[in-house]
Amino acid sequence: MAQPFTWWQRGLIYQVYPRSFLDSNADGTGDLPGITQKLEYLQWLGVDAIWISPIYPSPMVDFGYDVANYTDVDPIFGTLADFDELLKQAHAKDIRVILDYVPNHTSDQHPWFRESRASRTNAKRDWYIWRDTPNNWLSVFGGSAWTFDEATRQYYYHAYLKEQPDLNWRNPAVQDAMYDVLRFWFDKGVDGFRIDALRQVMKHQDLPDNPPNPNWQPGRDPYQSLLLTYSADQPELMDVVHRFREVAEEYKDRVLIGELWLSIQRLVAYYGENGRGLHLPFNFHLILTPWQAHQISGLIDTYEQALPPDAWPNWVLGNHDRSRIATRVGAAQARVAAMLLLTLRGTPTLYNGDEIGMHDVPIPPELVQDPFEHNVPGIGAGRDPERTPLQWNDFPNAGFTAAKEPWLPLADDYRSCNVAAQQSDPRSMLSLHRALIYLRRKMPALSVGTYMHVYTDDDLLVYERAVAQERVRVALNLSHRERQLEWRAPRGKVLLSTHLDRDGEVGPRLDLRPDEGVVALLDQ
Ligand code: NOJ
Repeated sequence: MAQPFTWWQRGLIYQVYPRSFLDSNADGTGDLPGITQKLEYLQWLGVDAIWISPIYPSPMVDFGYDVANYTDVDPIFGTLADFDELLKQAHAKDIRVILDYVPNHTSDQHPWFRESRASRTNAKRDWYIWRDTPNNWLSVFGGSAWTFDEATRQYYYHAYLKEQPDLNWRNPAVQDAMYDVLRFWFDKGVDGFRIDALRQVMKHQDLPDNPPNPNWQPGRDPYQSLLLTYSADQPELMDVVHRFREVAEEYKDRVLIGELWLSIQRLVAYYGENGRGLHLPFNFHLILTPWQAHQISGLIDTYEQALPPDAWPNWVLGNHDRSRIATRVGAAQARVAAMLLLTLRGTPTLYNGDEIGMHDVPIPPELVQDPFEHNVPGIGAGRDPERTPLQWNDFPNAGFTAAKEPWLPLADDYRSCNVAAQQSDPRSMLSLHRALIYLRRKMPALSVGTYMHVYTDDDLLVYERAVAQERVRVALNLSHRERQLEWRAPRGKVLLSTHLDRDGEVGPRLDLRPDEGVVALLDQ
């Protein structure tokens, strides 16, 4: 039978934050050969694709999201040859490789910007956004989004740091150069891209002031004090997305994923009409929604209903910009969250370290690296806590680096919370992830089946996934107390519990322990 679903629909995407994954050359920072060394682990875990955060030459002011050359590798991470080797070995293991593409801005050290700022008449002047007077737009990372450049006495626009000037996507030459960047990596065999800061790529032609946000309160992130009415999610952005898709379609089987912090209604617009948009506009709403059964259940329904026909859903539980799931909901509920992520309909993205339940690591002020924390202190904006080195074993520095100090401190519990320890513990968080991933692979109901809501109350969320005769029911207890559930369905048998200690028949009642989730196969 022809397989109607592609790899990025059936598969699990695993985000590698390369600085913190594995350091192969003892400089304290992770690198590409480090990722290659761990491909066997990723294969064992059941990962289908890795998305690697930026690896390009960069002054690292925003840790790689300030790109100085789109078609090379930063020496900190290795060489292009190291990348080719990683790609080859990943493909040999049937693991796809997705790169990060940063179209909204370059580094201020990119040759394009150096030229652009050199004079008002430079051929690349219009590659960036220059004005005599700034508008009121704010930088995501604090302060005005405009910086005055003494040399040519104009302001340039930067949605993020002043070291990250925004490209002018209304200039066709910028567009062509940036489409060629995609082709450079596609030609190498890269399987897709996660597109950074996509909503900001197009700005309103006239750059009007943004209106105030009536719901903002002092003490909150100052960036939220204005609505992004004219600085994000502009209608013309869809034309650019169509072009991204056209470039991807020049190749076979590639995937485009968009970083889009938008309401569900706006998010789903980026699938585009007739398959002309993104394959997977990242759905971050599990990160944004309170961890409460009614809320999560409502979110799933809203999302499922909003999806256009033929759009493939996706779910994200964490990434390098947000507090880790184990910190957000606690260690016990993080297991329930893993079951949710890996049994919902749609492609799951798993952030490295979440598979062993890593938590946010408090960073002493003198060790803070993230410019966001430096610029906007005191509101918990900093992203270092979720970027600490992966804990591989109980050796010094958790086996992450042979250097004296890793670039960020390690979690204090790494001697007990690490990959090696959890690989040999059949009930560990890692074992749970692996069991869920293999179950999902094995059962078409879970990997590609329909979603049906069954029941929600204050504590419980119950749903079914089904394909042909295969019906799987998932019952999640989002509370810390015991709960009983009327089964009201054919009896079934337990396939997996988050506690990894249970099987047997279920129905007409299911007893759930505190923080327990169960996957059951229903009798036909
Ligand atoms: C989103 C990325 O995930 C984040 O880490 C980065 O700082 C900004 N975009 C700017 O590129």
